[in-house]
Amino acid sequence: QQLQMNLEQIEKGGYDHFMLKEIYEQPSVIKDTYRGRLLANEGIIKMAGIEDNLEKFVNAQRIVIVACGTSWHAGLVAEYIFEEFTRIPVEVEYASEFRYRNPIINKGDVIIAISQSGETADTLAAIKLAKEKGAFVFGVCNVVGSSISRETHAGAYTHAGPEIGVASTKAFTTQITVLTLISLRIAKAKGTLSHSDYHNYLAELETIPEKVAEALKCNDVAKQIAAIYKDSPNCLYLGRGYNFPVALEGALKLKEISYIHAEGYPAAEMKHGPIALIDEHMPVIVIAPRQGHYDKVVSNIQEIKSRSGKIIAVVTKGDVQVRDLADHVIEIPDTVDALSPLLTTIPLQLLSYHIAVMRECNVDQPRNLAKSVTVE
Ligand code: G6P
Repeated sequence: QQLQMNLEQIEKGGYDHFMLKEIYEQPSVIKDTYRGRLLANEGIIKMAGIEDNLEKFVNAQRIVIVACGTSWHAGLVAEYIFEEFTRIPVEVEYASEFRYRNPIINKGDVIIAISQSGETADTLAAIKLAKEKGAFVFGVCNVVGSSISRETHAGAYTHAGPEIGVASTKAFTTQITVLTLISLRIAKAKGTLSHSDYHNYLAELETIPEKVAEALKCNDVAKQIAAIYKDSPNCLYLGRGYNFPVALEGALKLKEISYIHAEGYPAAEMKHGPIALIDEHMPVIVIAPRQGHYDKVVSNIQEIKSRSGKIIAVVTKGDVQVRDLADHVIEIPDTVDALSPLLTTIPLQLLSYHIAVMRECNVDQPRNLAKSVTVE
């Protein structure tokens, strides 16, 4: 028993929980994920699984992404990135819905399955169905040799290392990293990004690990905010564009580990429902980085403020406009819009973590949840 305890302590590397350790590993695992693949100075992206099938991606009429949970959120971020960079239409499907509705798959469609564990039953079944219908299926998995990595025609691994905490953190950011690399490689082949944009994205991606490290410095602020809102029964997360899926993921993290009811919404949809929930008891987490639809998000923040909602804003370092309006701000470094999810996600992970710890929840093994769902 004692030995077991000590082993676990060692595995946690000095952190109180696996989740916190995994949150802090993100600068290094993002780098591990692009190491050897991203050669920014030469303007090259090298991924065997993509090079071998480049024609299929370049000629794709459509990309359909299938996944579950957090991996599905990474898929949504990828939808925005793929469409912007490659101009290929993308659909993102819950694997469980895809598999049971006789999906339309045409010649020239590419299916991308995203899964940390590579064992999720619904995702695996969706892949088998897509293969039966003659589709080319590409996998983005973390666990080497997993069922999904074997069942797909080709793939690219994330290099997140073992993820033990049930709530996914580093798998999410490394999935986005791999999918960004893939998009950039296809964009280069298709000529859908200008020469300078392409090179700027490569250079910017290379700076992300150090910016994630910088973003992690918000930990103390996140902890202070957590202490204020830990007893809220509800919480709303809002974001637009690339950060709409981040809002969904932020809400999922809070639900999973703190058992607080949380919803993520595209900020502009707030007026079609959730705004009715806003009063002085409702904390609203707004993702408002400077790049992107900043002015639009600022007006959403004003709408929340005029209804006395409590505003916790994730902003770019040095922001003044939102700081004036918000009850709390959490600063992250500046980056381009498309890569911002890799940074905006960090404070949301930390916020959920601290709230769950303060509520004395089992952070690494929340009730009713499993790390990998291998049955329906
Ligand atoms: C479970 C886990 C989630 C995960 C989802 C999909 O619900 O608790 O953290 O996002 O499965 O798992 P996968 O391994 O396919 O990414």
